[in-house]
Amino acid sequence: MKRAIIYGVTGQDGSYLSEFLLNKGYKVYGVTRRSSIDNTARLHISLTNKRFKLVQGDVTDLPSIYRLLNNVQPHEVYNLAAQSHVGTSFEQPTNTWNVVAQGCMNILETIRSMSKRPRFYQASSSEMFGDSFECDDSDCLEAYQDEYTVFNPQSPYAVAKLAAHQATTLYRDSYGIFACSGILFNHESERRGENFVTRKVTKYIAKLHQALDEGGDIPILSLGNLNVERDWGYAPEYVEAMWLMLQQENPDDFVISTGETWTIEDFVIEAFRCIDIYEYKDYVKIDEKLRRPSEVYYLRGKSDKAKELLGWSPKVSFEQLVKIMVDHDIQGGYGYVEDQLSYGEVWNN
Ligand code: NAP
Ligand code: GDD
Repeated sequence: MKRAIIYGVTGQDGSYLSEFLLNKGYKVYGVTRRSSIDNTARLHISLTNKRFKLVQGDVTDLPSIYRLLNNVQPHEVYNLAAQSHVGTSFEQPTNTWNVVAQGCMNILETIRSMSKRPRFYQASSSEMFGDSFECDDSDCLEAYQDEYTVFNPQSPYAVAKLAAHQATTLYRDSYGIFACSGILFNHESERRGENFVTRKVTKYIAKLHQALDEGGDIPILSLGNLNVERDWGYAPEYVEAMWLMLQQENPDDFVISTGETWTIEDFVIEAFRCIDIYEYKDYVKIDEKLRRPSEVYYLRGKSDKAKELLGWSPKVSFEQLVKIMVDHDIQGGYGYVEDQLSYGEVWNN
C-alpha cells in the first residue's frame, strides 16, 4: 500500500488531498501542528477512514520532520503547509518566511538525507509572478502567466514561496530528488478560509440572505480593492493535479489554472446574483485599510503544459464555483465528496 505524508492537512487543499489519496487506496499521514482548540473540522471525512492517521508536527521543527519521514518511509510527501494569507504576510513577514521558506528547506534536507527518498510536491503559487505577465499579441489583450514567465514577487509571502520554489528546483537538479512544484493559481471551495476574499463574500451573502428572510439588521460588507483580477478554480480539482505531477516519469513544474480572469467586483456581482440582488453597492463599503501595501493586479494562468502532459484541465466554471460556495454557506453542510468514501474506524493516535 502506498504511503503519503501531507503537511498542511488541516487546510483547504490538505483536506481535499487527503480524501483524494484515500480514494486511491493510499495510507495517509496528515500532519497537524499543536493547537489549543480542535482545528480538524475540514477532516470530517478523512478522520472516519482507517487508512488516515493524524500526527503532530510542524514544518519549522526539523527533528520532528526527520523522525516522521524516517518512521513512515513514505512514497510521497506533499508540502502544503503555509502561512498562506498574503495580507497577513505584510504583518508577520518573518513568521511567514520561517513556515514557507525554511519549512520547505527542512523537508528537502530530510529527504536528501534518506537512503530511500520519497517523491516531493511543493505548493508554489501564482503570487510569485507578482506584476509579470506575457503577451502574444501587440495589444496585450490576453496577457497570461505560464511556466516561462519571470517571477517578480510583491509580498513577503510571495518572496518566501519563491525561495521554496527555487530550493525545490535546486534539490531536484543537484541531488536528483523527484521534486515537483505546482504553480497553482487561486482555487476556492466551500472549505476556503474565511478571510480570503471569495469566502468572505459568500459568508456575507448567507448572512444577508438570512437577515432579508427573517427581517434582522442588514449587515454591510467591507472590502478592499475590487479592481484586482484573479484566475479562480475549484480546489477539489486542483489537488488531483498535485497527485498527477508525482505520477510522471520525470519531475517537473506545472502551472495549474483555469485560463480565465475575473475582477473581485465580478465575484461580488455573481454572488449577489445568487440571491437575486442586482445592485450590490447598497450593501458594500470600501475600507482603505483592507488594501495591501503592494498588490498583484492581474493573474491569468495558461496551463497548456498540464493539459498536454498530465491530461489535467479544470471543469467547474466561475459561475458554478460562486454558486457552490454561496449555496454551501446558505445551507451549511459539506456535500462534495461525502459519498465517495467508505467510512472506517477512527484511528487512535
Ligand atoms: P490553508 O487553508 O491556509 O492551509 C494551510 C495549512 O498549513 C493549514 O493546515 C495550516 O495549519 C498549515 N500550517 C501553517 N503553519 C504550519 C506549520 N508551521 N507547520 C505545519 N503546518 C502549518 O491553505 P490552502 O488554501 O489549503 O493552500 C495550501 C497550500 O497551497 C499553501 O501552501 C498555500 O500557500 C498554497 N497555495 C494556495 C493557493 C490557493 O488559492 N488556495 C494557491 C497557490 C498556492 P493550521 O490549520 O494549524 O493553521
Ligand atoms: N482577503 C481579502 N479581503 N482580499 C481582498 C479584500 C478583502 O476584504 N478586498 C479585496 N481583496 C483583494 C486582495 O487585495 C487581493 O488582490 C484579492 O482580493 C484576492 O485576495 P485573497 O482572497 O486574500 O487571495 P490572494 O490572491 O491574495 O492569495 C491567494 O491566492 C494565492 C495564489 O495566487 C492565497 O490563497 C495564497 O495563499 C495563494 O498563493
